Amino acid sequence: MKVLLVGNGGREHALARAMVRTSPNLDLYVQAGNPGIDALGQPITFDPCDPKHVSALAQEHSIDLVVVGPEAPLVAGVADAVRAAGIACFGPSKAAAALEASKSFAKTVMNEAAVATARAYTCASETEVEAALDNFGAPYVVKDDALAAGKGVVVTDDRHTAYAHASSCLARPDGRVVIEEYLDGPEVSLFCLSDGTTVVPLVPAQDYKRLLDGGQGPNTGGMGAYSPLPWLPSGLVDEVVREVALPTITRMVERGTPFIGLLYCGLALTSAGTRVVEFNVRFGDPETQVVLERLESPLAPLLYAAATGTLIDHPKLEWSKEAAVTVVMASAGYPGTLRTGETITGIETAETIDGVHVIHAGTRLRTDEPDPQGSGNCCGTESETVLVNTGGRVLDVTARATTVEEARKRAYRAVNAIRFDGAHYRTDIGTWPDSLNS
Ligand code: AMP
Ligand code: GLY
Repeated sequence: MKVLLVGNGGREHALARAMVRTSPNLDLYVQAGNPGIDALGQPITFDPCDPKHVSALAQEHSIDLVVVGPEAPLVAGVADAVRAAGIACFGPSKAAAALEASKSFAKTVMNEAAVATARAYTCASETEVEAALDNFGAPYVVKDDALAAGKGVVVTDDRHTAYAHASSCLARPDGRVVIEEYLDGPEVSLFCLSDGTTVVPLVPAQDYKRLLDGGQGPNTGGMGAYSPLPWLPSGLVDEVVREVALPTITRMVERGTPFIGLLYCGLALTSAGTRVVEFNVRFGDPETQVVLERLESPLAPLLYAAATGTLIDHPKLEWSKEAAVTVVMASAGYPGTLRTGETITGIETAETIDGVHVIHAGTRLRTDEPDPQGSGNCCGTESETVLVNTGGRVLDVTARATTVEEARKRAYRAVNAIRFDGAHYRTDIGTWPDSLNS
């Protein structure tokens, strides 16, 4: 099978790795630019958000399946263009991707489908914002209605901070903001594949959204993840498929915008029951890194089945009983203003540790020219290619072992072998409060 993978961050490196690991003869074409991904397929340079260009590329290379990793190309209509060209595509249409692109649309669909989520108001004016903040009280949850690359949500006890974030969202043309009830309880990510009607869940994972240990600091795209969750109530996956994913997928069909791809269910396990915190329309990052690490069934045929409406006939998925932990190493300044271009060393040493591999999320190869003086003091006399950081989240250091605790130890041993100036990471990935064990 010929697959074209769109996107070139950490999630796509994990997808590429899992596709190749589980289908060694796969003919994989990838979006150039990530050294980890480039090594796994044939790199092509293209704009992932240009629907015409992506569909033309897929035709030119006789691709059987296009897999779209990030949300931006989906929202731009890449899946629509690929399907219009008669090629199977894993990823929802632009209309169905609104489940992620608009928080208020997601709330509407959840309400129509009777899916339990936080009560919410969509506000278009500062007066409405004031009323909503007063109605719910602290902690305040304020969400930009539009896509904001993981930075649109502010959860705070401080009313001024909540109000200021709401105002900045409203200040944009057609700006709207969703203000919702605070959900108290551990969060779980469950990825559900759908071909439009059938739902196949993957294994649950937990992400660490905040920058600092103990859930402190600002929200980020995610600083680490682990799977399985030994404390998770049995039956949770079945409950989420039955009460969340299937009703949503059915409602999308009824609306005339069937959802084909991955419905990411971000859940809070509150004392009042399971509630949806958010939907995303693509694999989560960095949860994908641990979920796919445990997948034993071939991934590419699974995504093809979802893309072609044949999930119902697909064999049951096989999962490793092993645990996986991934620790994100981020650039200085992340999630604010970044310092990039720092040389990264130690990945090879890290990967000598049993069960460890390093996913590239924000790196590139840079060729440094020789010192023009030829002194050899600073840069040597020959050009040299070095790996440098480019993005906020730079590396996802991933480890497998028989238990989460052992995988966690391996991951941190690997992290300690890797160096780049300004690197920072959480030290509590793969741990959870004692209260969850009861
Ligand atoms: P979202 O982009 O909607 O997933 O929000 C990002 C993060 O903000 C979530 O993973 C939660 O940690 C937090 N969050 C979002 N909504 C709520 C809520 N209603 N109550 C508590 N925390 C929330
Ligand atoms: N890890 C959270 C996300 O992918 O949105």
